[in-house]
Amino acid sequence: MHQQNTQAFTLTGGRVIDPASGRDELADVAVAEGKVAWIRPSGGGPLGEKVPVDGLVVCPGLIDIHVHLRQPGFEHKETVATGTQAAVAGGFTTICCMPNTNPPLDRPQRITRLQQTIKKQAWCNVYILGAATVGNQRRELADFGALLETGCPSITDDAMPLQSTKQMQEALQKLAGTGRPFMAHLEDEELSGDGVINAGAVSQQLQVPGQDSLSEVAALRRWAQAANSVKQARLHLLHVSTAQTVAEAKTLRTDNIFSRLTLETAPHYFCLTEEAVLESGADAKVNPPLRTEHDRKAILQAVIDGDIQIIATDHAPHTPQEKAQGLIDAPPGLVGLETCLGLILTHLFHTGHLSLSDILAKMTYNPARLLGLPAGTLKSGAPADITIIDPYKQWVVDPDRFYSKGRNTPFSAQNLTGQAWGTIRGGQFLMQEGKLRKDAKL
Ligand code: NCD
Repeated sequence: MHQQNTQAFTLTGGRVIDPASGRDELADVAVAEGKVAWIRPSGGGPLGEKVPVDGLVVCPGLIDIHVHLRQPGFEHKETVATGTQAAVAGGFTTICCMPNTNPPLDRPQRITRLQQTIKKQAWCNVYILGAATVGNQRRELADFGALLETGCPSITDDAMPLQSTKQMQEALQKLAGTGRPFMAHLEDEELSGDGVINAGAVSQQLQVPGQDSLSEVAALRRWAQAANSVKQARLHLLHVSTAQTVAEAKTLRTDNIFSRLTLETAPHYFCLTEEAVLESGADAKVNPPLRTEHDRKAILQAVIDGDIQIIATDHAPHTPQEKAQGLIDAPPGLVGLETCLGLILTHLFHTGHLSLSDILAKMTYNPARLLGLPAGTLKSGAPADITIIDPYKQWVVDPDRFYSKGRNTPFSAQNLTGQAWGTIRGGQFLMQEGKLRKDAKL
């Protein structure tokens, strides 16, 4: 078990925001024995040591349900240790990691082994998402029940998108009744083909193969068809990137054809377009690819309107050597853990699009509820997993300062406003004043 700090302390004078309970007020938060002891109006007597956080936001520890930790098998890209340090530096206390490792996380023994590494080396809470197919080969579905029993919150085909409607139907059926959604990577490979960026003006200009943006919505239509015959089918759409996907998902939900449908996007889909490839090259190559301005605006609007309920990073580290192979050969993926909060605050809060509480719901309560994670709210007796945010901190993205092994970001040198100031897990400060506490006991 993760070591808990038995030392009591009180965060005083902060603005406490807990979207789960609707709380948004100046309050003091006392922490003792790894738990939230109480939350009271500012100014009373503190419990234990006083830690002033005036001017800062105190909220439930942030949750990212879409992270590639790369262990086992790709430790040159990232490890449990480096990826979770990046998470804590970015303000996350809980993450879910993706199963496209080597070997893939498709059976209980592999999950248990990684859980042991996580226990010893992870800086934050890590839940493992199980692979949908045996060996991630897409021939045979994995034993979902056994994976859930071993502790996987859910199952995903991320990076290995299912193509057959029949397999989709079986996958939904296997999860129906468990309360857990299948987490789907939407990509019709006939349409995405060998495209390396979005098919459009930029792919034409650079004369590289493009991915038809219809690929995403075509996969959604197939999933919707598969769900037709499955009672209580639940589906979560990973990294949604196109206007059409958002529009059709909304119709499916509002017409009650598929009411248990949730959507996630990542900051790069509402901050950037395919044009970023012209400047950042392979560091802007990601799957699904960055799209057009029309898509970017639609994703942004869906985040604002609540049609996208969850923001995750799709943190996908690769080495500089791999990314140096150029647009065609470099693997797709961007790192996101250390830029996510800054991008969100800069593009959603400081632009006036969303309140802090609405933003934090998409990073705490909503993902926790989706996957049944014991996190995402700040109340007495809950584990003291807390993020402290300086919403006005101005900083410049410098990949050389990332704790992640990955440097692959198209946001290098960008000016952002807002950053995590502190990250507390189980009552222990793991990051304080923007620096990791290397003396932390894991
Ligand atoms: C993912 C990765 O690197 O694992 N990359 C990405 O661009 N999102 C895999 C994937 O989803 O294709």
